[in-house]
Amino acid sequence: MHYALTGAGKRVRPVLTLAVAELFGVRSEPVLDLACAVEMVHACSLVLDDLPAMDDAALRRGRPTVHRAFGESVALLAALGLLNRAYALVAEAAHRLSLRRYTAEDVVHHLAAAIGSDGLIGGQALDLLARPEEMDLDVLEYIHSHKTGALFMAAGELGAMAADARRRDLEVIARYAKNLGLAFQIADDLLDVLGTPEVTGKDTGKDESKVTFVRLLGVPGAQALAGELLGFAVDSLAPLGRKADPLRELAMFVQHRSR
Ligand code: IPE
Ligand code: IPE
Ligand code: MG
Ligand code: MG
Ligand code: MG
Repeated sequence: MHYALTGAGKRVRPVLTLAVAELFGVRSEPVLDLACAVEMVHACSLVLDDLPAMDDAALRRGRPTVHRAFGESVALLAALGLLNRAYALVAEAAHRLSLRRYTAEDVVHHLAAAIGSDGLIGGQALDLLARPEEMDLDVLEYIHSHKTGALFMAAGELGAMAADARRRDLEVIARYAKNLGLAFQIADDLLDVLGTPEVTGKDTGKDESKVTFVRLLGVPGAQALAGELLGFAVDSLAPLGRKADPLRELAMFVQHRSR
């Protein structure tokens, strides 16, 4: 669990949680716990994603994947351990926040829905099971927005809930995070083709047998789509004014990321 969680990841999702809570005026220890829980869910998803039965990856965050370092049995237990600890942490943190607009159950339920079979897990399942001849832009958008977009949305929304943000502000954050997450996964697919393991910290060329946005649209087309989605993400922040600048910077980071 420690190895999976503390590798040299970018921490984009927990940063999103913290940045959103902060723009609504809240910076506190329970918010940090929520952000850590989001990263624990993400780390869990990476351990599972790398397993031989899934992407069969050897390298993650610049070092051997968890199953390569500790064996598959330990990898499975570590992933489930991270997920369970994440839920416990969210429940405790949400309770301590004692919010006015949201119950602790709302917060836990929000995360659970984002991870479940209508969220990250559903997206990962279709990513593995969809036949290449069934893949078109709509199916691919469904996969990307679930396997990656759903946790981005939850990361942002948990930050907003932790700050007791109004429902309509929560919707603004959700729209931003959905587009950011989709663009983030397109950038990931681009790096699989254009990146190097030295920089990305993971094997490249893993998607060769897969249908991705890069396959369907070509490199320039996928780059243009990622740029367009990031434009939508930034546009949706207009109602929040200048206080949303850190989120605009996060979109810039996703646009230009090399890892
Ligand atoms: C990798 O996520 C998996 C995807 C959803 C694309 P990241 O690119 O955020 O991985 P780390 O956390 O920085 O290692
Ligand atoms: C992974 O997508 C999405 C999740 C982990 C949920 P990828 O399979 O493209 O991620 P990488 O490239 O292995 O990081
Ligand atoms: Mg995968
Ligand atoms: Mg993978
Ligand atoms: Mg990838």
